[in-house]
Amino acid sequence: MENKGFSRREFIKVAAGSAVVTLGSGGCAFFSECKAKNKPRGNYKVFSKGKIGSLDLKNHIVKAATDVGATNDDCSFMSEGLGMYKEWSRGGAGLIISGHMTVVPQSGKNFVFNHNLTCIHDDKFIPQLSKMARVVHDADSDCKILAQINHIGMDSTTEPVSASSVPWPFVKKQPHVLSVSEILELEDLYLAAAKRAKAAGFDGIQLHGAHSFLLNTFLTPFSNKRTDQYGGSMKNMVRIVREMTDKIKSSLGSDFPVLIKVNGFAKLPFDGIDADAFPRFLHELSGTGLDAIEISEDKDTDEAKRRVRHTMYDEKVSLSIPLIMTGGNASVEDVERLSQQGTAEYFGFARSLIREPDLPNRWLEKVGDAGCECIFCDACVEYLLEGRKLVTCQEI
Ligand SMILES: Cc1cc2nc3c(=O)[nH]c(=O)nc-3n(C[C@H](O)[C@H](O)[C@H](O)COP(=O)(O)O)c2cc1C
Repeated sequence: MENKGFSRREFIKVAAGSAVVTLGSGGCAFFSECKAKNKPRGNYKVFSKGKIGSLDLKNHIVKAATDVGATNDDCSFMSEGLGMYKEWSRGGAGLIISGHMTVVPQSGKNFVFNHNLTCIHDDKFIPQLSKMARVVHDADSDCKILAQINHIGMDSTTEPVSASSVPWPFVKKQPHVLSVSEILELEDLYLAAAKRAKAAGFDGIQLHGAHSFLLNTFLTPFSNKRTDQYGGSMKNMVRIVREMTDKIKSSLGSDFPVLIKVNGFAKLPFDGIDADAFPRFLHELSGTGLDAIEISEDKDTDEAKRRVRHTMYDEKVSLSIPLIMTGGNASVEDVERLSQQGTAEYFGFARSLIREPDLPNRWLEKVGDAGCECIFCDACVEYLLEGRKLVTCQEI
């Protein structure tokens, strides 16, 4: 078929016939009626069924957490943002992780990135958050959704808090160092948030332990200089995660899924754990009762750099729980190869699913090429960081 002046995106849609463009109207009959195994790429490992803890998943494709700038001034999630979750569910991801939600009240005014943050610190948010869980389940009853819960820690311009008093590059202000009793209170805030997520109908939660937020400050010697039971050894650095996971599972059931997202190997120079220590760190984390670990890798798509770090995962990382690898995944053939060679079991996608929410289904159907339309330009991130609402692809 000749491309007669269509954009690449339009061309792929048209070439696929009208089947893929049913998003936004009632139902996605083309995809929902047939099972993955009957599809052109249905025999791929990434499209096979999976399980994280007690959670049955229809495939190994994860919509990585994405703050879509859909937060009202009162901290509640905007109804206008629900449509994106519906599209991601219809688009074929097996698991969706929500944008981060904070366990304490936060306004955009004291967030270093200057946009409102969705909150989960009060029961009053449950009705609106339950719409997010419902829209995903209604669009595809096989698609699961986790609430990502977070404390922005040092990224608060007014009350930065951290594991130790190491100023973070973004925020020059000296952070308040959490005392042991404040750490225990923080764990209770995470537990309360997890209870709300469960009440709202989410299938589990993900602790945000990456991207310089509060939990991240405990998980790296760069910012954890503590000499008490929460610092020093790796066992001590991950203690806070073990205690949070214990509290959540004791209260909500051992089968309630608790995952974590942590910075990956490529972010290590910043974090201060070297290539030898990183596999040990993951191993220590995997023994805390968590159901899976998501690695937030550098966002670049540079093949050579990616190969180096994948070799490290292949050779040195062997865990008892699944690994979700996120960052720069741009081709179904690449992730299938990584899946086959055992580099990771699950693969996370953020920017590419902002551009093409139906990318998993397009790949499964073998429509268009094996890559994605996203060029990883980060214009979507800039749009969010400018404080603008309802993130969409901003590529020009
Ligand atoms: C607009 C936008 C918002 C994001 N919000 C979050 C978030 O709330 N929590 C989080 O852990 N990561 C967040 N991320 C990071 C992604 O989950 C992911 O780790 C990163 O974009 C790399 O994956 P990608 O190359 O597939 O985009 C966000 C990314 C983008 C582009």
